[in-house]
Amino acid sequence: MKILAIETSCDETAVAVIDITGPLAKPEIKILGNTLLSQVPLHEQYGGVFPMLAKREHEKNLPVLLEQTLKQAGENMKNPDIDFVAVTAGPGLEPALWAGIVFAEELGKNWRKPVIGVDHMKGHTWSVLFGGGKVELPALALLVSGGHTELVLVRDFDDYEILGRTKDDAVGEAFDKVARMLGLHYPGGPKISLLAEKSRSRTYEKLPTYEKLPRSFSFPRPMLHSDNLNFSYSGLKTAVLYKVRELGELSEETREDVARAFEDAAIEVLVEKTRKALDNAGDSIKTLIVAGGVSANKLLTEKISELAASFPNLTLRLPERSLTTDNAIMIGIAAYVEATVNPSILKGKQDIKARGNLSISSQSSQ
Ligand code: KG4
Ligand code: ZN
Repeated sequence: MKILAIETSCDETAVAVIDITGPLAKPEIKILGNTLLSQVPLHEQYGGVFPMLAKREHEKNLPVLLEQTLKQAGENMKNPDIDFVAVTAGPGLEPALWAGIVFAEELGKNWRKPVIGVDHMKGHTWSVLFGGGKVELPALALLVSGGHTELVLVRDFDDYEILGRTKDDAVGEAFDKVARMLGLHYPGGPKISLLAEKSRSRTYEKLPTYEKLPRSFSFPRPMLHSDNLNFSYSGLKTAVLYKVRELGELSEETREDVARAFEDAAIEVLVEKTRKALDNAGDSIKTLIVAGGVSANKLLTEKISELAASFPNLTLRLPERSLTTDNAIMIGIAAYVEATVNPSILKGKQDIKARGNLSISSQSSQ
């Protein structure tokens, strides 16, 4: 199947053409065209993503990216050889989502091709199908991004259950907010991680991670011992804020130590909740998927790899680095999954609506 995929759920405009065939557990995927324009520099000056501004930018960027992507794929604008168009329907910022949906529907009309709506979180989940590894089900997915922190049981390609989720901030959001406290620009995740690495390599190299830092650096691990699989990151963020205020003027080394203490706390909760979910499931889980922007985090991948190795029948699947943050390739892959488990969505016109709060466990992404 040749799919033209569009992603506009937040602050990245992305378009891709993929050719995907074969079984869902191990499809063969060729990227024929792929473009992405980040609005980060634009939103940065306002300190956050403004939905209406994002929408306007998507509307401006989409025709340009479409033309470039089709060119890369060797296709023409008038009548490209694709099977259908896929577009993110949610979750995300509704005005931003609408920009993608309206554009996709226009293309569908002009080209007389079906258009289907795709769940962004399924996109993150199935980003791990790229790269050739097999994904055997049932799987447990730890989805960690700027908007989401959830543990999902994937029983089948059309059967998802959220086992736990954040009660307040998402983990990526906490990284971004702590970064701002330390005077770093959005997106803060990678920058916090670099600072934390410096702290680790500098003084405390020999200490295991999660070890208490000197100078009373230790932040709470919210809900670590709660007997459910939910998360909470707002208390941790506030604890960092108080600490930063208490410390006053921060030396470079202190900033690094704060970043490290925060990262240790944030990641330990993710890993331990994942351990709990795996323990609860007995031996039934075959694959552990970790995806979303925060899955690029080095400490997380190290700790989660150790965790996965302690379960003999478990295979860990992480997305390729370039597919950790938002992109259109993952939307194309999730669209293939949707169209394979439910081929009827390619017949007749779908009524695609932007659904800002779409949940991965709901029945339909349309
Ligand atoms: O999946 P994504 O691109 O967008 C959403 O769907 O939200 O995730 C973006 C988030 C941002 O919060 C960013 O700070 C975080 O992923 N992130 C990281 C790292 N790289 C990106 N967080 C921690 N460590 C990283 N290396
Ligand atoms: Zn995302």
